[in-house]
Formats: sequence, structure tokens, C-alpha cells
Amino acid sequence: MSVNKEIKKVTTHTLQKLKNQSEKISMITAYDFSFAKLFDQAGIDVILVGDSASNVMAGHETTLPITLDQMIYHASSVIRGVNRSLVVVDLPFGSYQSNSEIALASAIRIMKETGAHALKLEGGEEVVESVKRIVSAGIPVMGHLGLTPQSIYKFGTYNVRAKEEMEANKLRADAKLLEEVGCFGIVLEKIPAVLAKEVSASLVIPTIGIGAGVNCDGQVLVMHDMLGINTEFKPRFLRTYLNMAEQITTAVKQYITDVKSSDFPNEKEQY
Ligand code: KIV
Repeated sequence: MSVNKEIKKVTTHTLQKLKNQSEKISMITAYDFSFAKLFDQAGIDVILVGDSASNVMAGHETTLPITLDQMIYHASSVIRGVNRSLVVVDLPFGSYQSNSEIALASAIRIMKETGAHALKLEGGEEVVESVKRIVSAGIPVMGHLGLTPQSIYKFGTYNVRAKEEMEANKLRADAKLLEEVGCFGIVLEKIPAVLAKEVSASLVIPTIGIGAGVNCDGQVLVMHDMLGINTEFKPRFLRTYLNMAEQITTAVKQYITDVKSSDFPNEKEQY
């Protein structure tokens, strides 16, 4: 029987159990109460309050501008809609890179002010002291390797990462290191499927892929991309499950027509 159907609340231990029993982990982003409630009720394992909020909620070109206060606002809204899913929150750019003390202070603010269950941060060896310090304070941490959008100006493009052996070797070593210092899982973003398969098999903890092939232990997508709200982003790895942009446009156009023609409200729709 699926582990997923039996569990009341998903914890980091549940994710480990899912990997151990070869059941895939489902993860999606959310940034507000209403969508988080729908995703939780649909049975998603993990909700990520991603710093992609900077793109899809605020309209910025990159994830860099979003602040800790803004992440806290999104995360506390999401938490109010969730009963069962594990809620993981991204530490935003600038809130953990300076040193481990600042990283811990940022982590504590998110945990205290939102009620979230875990945090995610980008990078390997560079952030290992921060990961150690946050984990030793009792806060579960998820890593994020491969294409790490907070480093976009270093990479220069959003192309596939770790295609070259040197970068692939660093990723292998970083993944091991993150596991050793206590991460409960690692997001692998936009790396070759063969490498993601190898890294997933070499780790005890689960990997969650985005553009990293089917052999990761779970998958994550940004809600605006998979629901077809954001129609401009069409990477090869994306599967679109709805065409919300079209459906919303059609609905709003009908509403405008109904208002203009005095069709809405009718007699039953008034007091
Ligand atoms: O911020 C985000 O949405 C993410 C996912 C792409 C994994 O980090």
C-alpha cells in the first residue's frame, strides 16, 4: 500500500520513508493561502514557498530582489492553508550567504514568524557552515544544487548545469557534503538526467528534480508554469497540466461582456 495514503501529516521522515519504499515524492510551489489549500487538499507531499515568488508573484526578472520579510509574508499565508503537506520555505538571496550567524538568524525568523516546517537554501560547500548551524538549531534544511537561480549573474544563462565533468564532480561532492551535514533532501535543478540518476542512487536522502529526469526521488514544478498561468516560460522539462491563462482570459472577457450588457447581475443575483 502507498505510504502516501496512510499519513496524516507529511514530515521530513515521511519523505525518507517514501524514498526507502521507492514511492516518488510530489512537490509544487505555492505563495498564498488559497492555492496552498487546494494543493494540500489534492494530496501533494511538499509545498515549496519558493523565492520564485520574486518572478511569478512580483514580476521581477530574477529571484534576487525578494526580501526576507516578503518571503515571511508568503510563507505565513501558505501555512494558514495547509493541514497535511510539509511546507518548505526558501531562504532568499542575501539572508544566508554572509555568514552562518546571519543565516541562522534568518532561519529562525522564518520558522518563528511563519510556522513553516523546513527551509531550503542554494549551494554546496560554500554554504555548508550555515547548513550545519541551522540544522544544529533543530531546523530541517533542504539543499539545492545544479541551476541555482540566485547565482544567475555568475552563470550568465539559465542553461543546463553540470554538463562538464568538473562541474559534475563538484555537484557529486556537494551532494554528499550536504547529506553529511544533515540536509533531509536536495533539489536538483536542470542537470543531465544521467547525473541526477547517479546522485540520487548515491545518496540516502531523497532528491527532488526539476528538469533533472525521472530518476530523482521526487519532482517539483512552479505552480504558475504547470498550471499554464505563465505562458512565456516553456522549457523542455515542463509539463503543462492546465491552460489557466486562456481559461481566465475567456472568463474575464465574458464577465466584462455581461457587465457591459447589463446581463450581470440578474434578478437572482441581487437582494
Ligand atoms: O524557488 C523555486 O520555485 C524553486 C524551485 C524551482 C525548486 O527553488
